Amino acid sequence: MAGKSESAAQGDAGAPSPDLVVVANRLPVDLERLPDGSTRWKRSPGGLVTALEPVLRRNHGAWVGWPGVPDAEVDPIVEDGLTLHPVTLSARDVAKYYEGFSNGTLWPLYHDVVVKPVFDRAWWNTYVDVNRRFAEATAKVAAEGATVWVQDYQLQLVPKMLRMLRPDLTIGFFQHIPFPPVEIFMQLPWRAEIIEGLLGADLVGFHLPGGAQNFVYLANRLGGHPVSRTQIGVRSRFGEVQVGFRTVRAGAFPISIASSELDELSKSRSVRQRARQIRQELGNPRRIMLGVDRLDYTKGIDIRLSAVRELLEEGRLDPKDNVFVQLATPSRERVEHYMHMRDEIERQVGRINGDYGEVGHPVVHYLHRPIPRNELIAFFVAADVMLVTPVRDGMNLVAKEYVACRSDLGGALLLSEFTGAATELRQAYLVNPHDLDGVKDMLLAALDQAPEEGRKRMRALRRQVLAHDVDRWARAFLNALAETPQAGETGASLQR
Ligand code: ADP
Ligand code: G6P
Repeated sequence: MAGKSESAAQGDAGAPSPDLVVVANRLPVDLERLPDGSTRWKRSPGGLVTALEPVLRRNHGAWVGWPGVPDAEVDPIVEDGLTLHPVTLSARDVAKYYEGFSNGTLWPLYHDVVVKPVFDRAWWNTYVDVNRRFAEATAKVAAEGATVWVQDYQLQLVPKMLRMLRPDLTIGFFQHIPFPPVEIFMQLPWRAEIIEGLLGADLVGFHLPGGAQNFVYLANRLGGHPVSRTQIGVRSRFGEVQVGFRTVRAGAFPISIASSELDELSKSRSVRQRARQIRQELGNPRRIMLGVDRLDYTKGIDIRLSAVRELLEEGRLDPKDNVFVQLATPSRERVEHYMHMRDEIERQVGRINGDYGEVGHPVVHYLHRPIPRNELIAFFVAADVMLVTPVRDGMNLVAKEYVACRSDLGGALLLSEFTGAATELRQAYLVNPHDLDGVKDMLLAALDQAPEEGRKRMRALRRQVLAHDVDRWARAFLNALAETPQAGETGASLQR
């Protein structure tokens, strides 16, 4: 078989080669270096890992990814049905490929240019180089005819590179962040190369139909248009792009969470008890508002703080009986825009508490650290209003997690229209995060909702989230991938 190495047959970890391989920038666990020089593994941040980890574990697949720290030479690990294949990144790779091109160029570009992307040729060259190493690592791991599922914006060149190394594979790609419209995407100096990279897949998935349409449009334009740097010979109809003899499909597959697992956990006695205790620890306020995010400028944490501040100033929110808890996981801390945003948010928190808090009773409780899973669920159960206010978000799993945790039909979800989740969660209190007065009014409406109105909304939201869980998402994608014209007979299907 073309390009297949010895280790592909056996797998690097000594386990049989897997039929389903996920390739993502990060492994589902991060290596942590402790001050005494020892190491331990901890769960990786973000929605991609939340969604994919349970799916892959159930399916005994393999995961190729970076262990989260520079220069970590780690052997493959077999754990609980999942084989992890670490890809080593040097400190320079991390600076240029991960912090640089992925999170200083692509992330802001794909999120509506909410901050200015940097176009740096050295970052791009490292992005190409690291994508090649991911493709090579995957080519060694995957069984003959296996299905490989490449994830997200950090690895958009991998599908084409992998196809060249291993033409026997069925290759899917899923974009977890928005895919921008042509006017924005065309700013990228390496736009044709990115589109070509993605066209190496048999199926390219997005959260929303709009993302798929943008991609198909761009594939046409960059394939046949004079601005293209390379000729990739593309002609297409909606949802399909013809690349030479191959047909590449594009479609929408809105991601979700392990809803019933979360529903069960949230009903447990210990979680319920902890939720009551949290309310007590917060001073038994009449109402608890909650935000849960990676500390990212796309999440609109500043917007909710401004809304709370103005409502306090106008006397529409009483600081004695309302608290706002913001749980923020540290994220991409060496990227400049993230440093500025952290300073700004912490300044806002300090100012609100300085003006409206009392000794022992701050209005805003702010934690800058990851919160253990069960503790997070208890916060969801305790919160009267969940504030999800991104200026742009591919999906936003936090919104779905909150809903899954409210079997009591209590609580209210304030949700930005600019999240992928808003297309499914229509009974949330939907807001335009750029309209601060609108956010304030809707926040008060959510805080003051009549109990029957709240139950009605939550019932409808839960119906959606419980019926459309992450297994359904993965099955929909992998089934569509198995049905693509080139997919081999061994295309992966999911076990329950
Ligand atoms: P993103 O992928 O951009 O981070 P999502 O909302 O889709 O956004 O996913 C975030 C995931 O990270 C969710 O599973 C959420 O529960 C988890 N998370 C966010 N903030 C925290 C926190 N402070 N502590 C623990 N987990 C968090
Ligand atoms: C988002 C991205 C993921 C990423 C996660 C955490 O969910 O879509 O690809 O893994 O954020 O970000 P980080 O940069 O810490 O991996």
